[in-house]
Amino acid sequence: MTRSPAGAVVTGAGRGLGRQIARLLVARGHHVLVTDLDAASAQATADELGATAMAVDVRDPAQVDAARDAIIARAGRLDVWVNNAGVLVTGPAWEQDPATRRLMIEVNTLGTVNGTVAAIGAMREGGGHVVNIVSLAGLTAVAGEAVYAASKHAAIGFSLSTMADLLVAGISGIDISCVCPDGIWTPMLYDKLNDPASALSFSGKLLQPEDVVEAVRKVLDKPRLVTTVPRRRGLVARLADLAPRLGLAAVPLVVAQGRRAQQRLLDRG
Ligand SMILES: NC(=O)c1ccc[n+]([C@@H]2O[C@H](COP(=O)([O-])OP(=O)(O)OC[C@H]3O[C@@H](n4cnc5c(N)ncnc54)[C@H](O)[C@@H]3O)[C@@H](O)[C@H]2O)c1
Repeated sequence: MTRSPAGAVVTGAGRGLGRQIARLLVARGHHVLVTDLDAASAQATADELGATAMAVDVRDPAQVDAARDAIIARAGRLDVWVNNAGVLVTGPAWEQDPATRRLMIEVNTLGTVNGTVAAIGAMREGGGHVVNIVSLAGLTAVAGEAVYAASKHAAIGFSLSTMADLLVAGISGIDISCVCPDGIWTPMLYDKLNDPASALSFSGKLLQPEDVVEAVRKVLDKPRLVTTVPRRRGLVARLADLAPRLGLAAVPLVVAQGRRAQQRLLDRG
């Protein structure tokens, strides 16, 4: 017997990809809690989708737990938790100040840890699904995005290791799926067309949020530990990791390809 959809939480859902994932979850019949650091955008998204809003900074475990408690109070059960909130500041690590490096690790890695732990607390009884929005930068070297890549590698390592812990502990019914997209045309990249350090984000076919939402829809139907979007670029990223020296040798070519794509988008206006 399939149970009817209950609560779902999406972090960083005030805009960009998170907003579209929240839309998908509403369409699937969930009671969705739209959360974001930016209270106004969370509220606007919730109003538009017929969902509920809450200001949540994913760096703060107390705020994350409060979101978990709020959705259970409202919907009775937590089915889905999407760790989507993310921050990208480009440039070599040595050019970034300590606060910037810390910000990316705290939001992208610790935010994912906080959300996953909170969700597991609620899902131990009735099961559920944690979907972590990672990045291809979590699988391979990305020139210009070293700290971001580190934060996303850590998010994947944490997700897979936590699945292993659930297995060893004999806790069944909880899935964790990592979705790793290539560059997506969201506000995260809107101001980066002139930024050489983000060239790799533009070096493939730029995704639209809907492409990634479709991948999320698929993992919600059938949990999958790691999904790359598009799959072909995921394969290339993994091959580059198998032979890191060869992979690094190709980076200048891929950067040049990304710069050309940025220029084409700038020319198009
Ligand atoms: N855009 C891309 O090219 C791309 C590619 C691969 C993966 N991703 C990942 O997709 C996810 C969504 O990114 P996006 O492209 O929609 O970016 P975005 O910048 O449009 O949206 C990110 C959202 O996260 C929120 N946020 C930032 N810090 C927060 C915090 N401390 N607590 C709660 N919310 C916070 C922001 O307010 C914003 O609403 C991120 O995890 C990002 O790393 C993006």
